[in-house]
Amino acid sequence: MPDLYDQLKKLDKHARYPYHMPGHKRNPEAGPLADVMAIDITEIDGFDDLHNPGGILREAQQRAAKTYGAEESFFLVNGGTAGVLAAVSAVCAQDREKSQDQPLLLAGRGSHQSLAHAAYLADAEVRWLWEEDRAEGEAVIPGTVYPAEVMEALTAASGEGHLPAAVFVTSPTYYGAVADIPSIVEIAHSFGVSVIVDEAHGAHFGFGQGMPDSALHAGADLVIDSVHKTLPSLTQTALLHVQGKQVDRDRLRRFLRIFQTSSPSYVLMASIDSCITMLREKPESLLGGPVLYKQLILETSASWKYLHILSRAAVQDPCKIVVSTAATHMTGRELYDILLENYHLQPEMAGENEVVFILTGMDTEEGLEALLWSLAAVDGMLADGTFTSSAEKPQFPGTPHPEVIRTITDAWDAPSEKLPLDDAEGRICADMIVPYPPGTPLLVPGERIDASMVQRLKALTSAGYSVRGLEKEDGVISLRALSSKTG
Ligand SMILES: Cc1ncc(COP(=O)(O)O)c(C=O)c1O
Repeated sequence: MPDLYDQLKKLDKHARYPYHMPGHKRNPEAGPLADVMAIDITEIDGFDDLHNPGGILREAQQRAAKTYGAEESFFLVNGGTAGVLAAVSAVCAQDREKSQDQPLLLAGRGSHQSLAHAAYLADAEVRWLWEEDRAEGEAVIPGTVYPAEVMEALTAASGEGHLPAAVFVTSPTYYGAVADIPSIVEIAHSFGVSVIVDEAHGAHFGFGQGMPDSALHAGADLVIDSVHKTLPSLTQTALLHVQGKQVDRDRLRRFLRIFQTSSPSYVLMASIDSCITMLREKPESLLGGPVLYKQLILETSASWKYLHILSRAAVQDPCKIVVSTAATHMTGRELYDILLENYHLQPEMAGENEVVFILTGMDTEEGLEALLWSLAAVDGMLADGTFTSSAEKPQFPGTPHPEVIRTITDAWDAPSEKLPLDDAEGRICADMIVPYPPGTPLLVPGERIDASMVQRLKALTSAGYSVRGLEKEDGVISLRALSSKTG
């Protein structure tokens, strides 16, 4: 079966003159991206319609579903974000049919901002499941949601006579920690509640030896895979999978129509389809690399004295490497900057005391050697005293657990004012405060800003982290708080 890309390549040979969008008309003179434009079309004859698929797009989505073991899979051209928005909206709309109550979601606090955006749009109440941190030596990274916590929260909700529309879990996390999805699914299903797994960072799960199992295989009802994050697919490409009888698929399609563009890019969709072909035909050659490379990195780092690479017990995802500086006087940001400026390596993210790297099947031996060599050199700098820190080591009082005063929708739509961070203690946040990356909110609208949060936000900004929702003007950092001081 020819994939979408093969069909697009035949466009020129068909020699149909394009009296249609896009405006570049596939003209080779259309600018520096003319090569890409040559296969860039919209829903013209013979190329189906993503929002009402009956031809080649339906076949391509069926290939994706078969490859992942889903009952149905949907192409996303607006990232995993569109999948989270559609999945949460669909389960909340389904919940409204059953009850007049405001829909309730149980969600890991480490969820990506798109979960809070979806809750805002659905006017849902979110009850947070607090992940336990994972510690290894002096290194501490955010962990995952635990089944016992899901059981406790569902038992409480059931006791109140108000079961949630869904349990929303992120696995793997940005740091590569994997949740016990089979147990979470078993518990949620025993209450008749759907499970949505944000597997945006784990589109490779379930393929090839040494990879963790996929959330679909564990029985999750809705799963979001951002293929662009760890597989060879263009930025913005992702998949939403569904299985079982819990979720109303018509509603899901309705929300996909709402959240996805009416002019989906065939370049992006062809990229997903080609990626699926590679996954199906040669998963080992695509995914053997990260497993092997991670092993090599862990073995090599055993001789380093200061930098620590978190083991596979803490970071189960072979595609994530987390290097901790916790046992040194270096911050995560400083390690990140040294690697970028001195060694021309661009990590994925700097945390307070760690740097995160993504490995994929497209990495090269040269790339791996450069990483190992550079990290060993930095370890040497720490050993011989050549490195002197210019930053204060961040001192954060554990994972923040802000007090929830109002729902996200209530608070985000309420009258608010801009306030210097110095005056914000005790006030109620009226915006999303999100360090990016990783895109996990520290505060969502409706949560109390306490003293330790003010301290944390100051420390993050002064250490050079980008925090969405904070503004800096004339040296003053400010955020939006509810005008009402009491909520
Ligand atoms: C855990 C998680 N979920 C969802 C998303 C959104 O995915 P996308 O960037 O594909 O829209 C991200 C993005 O970084 C993420 O980290």
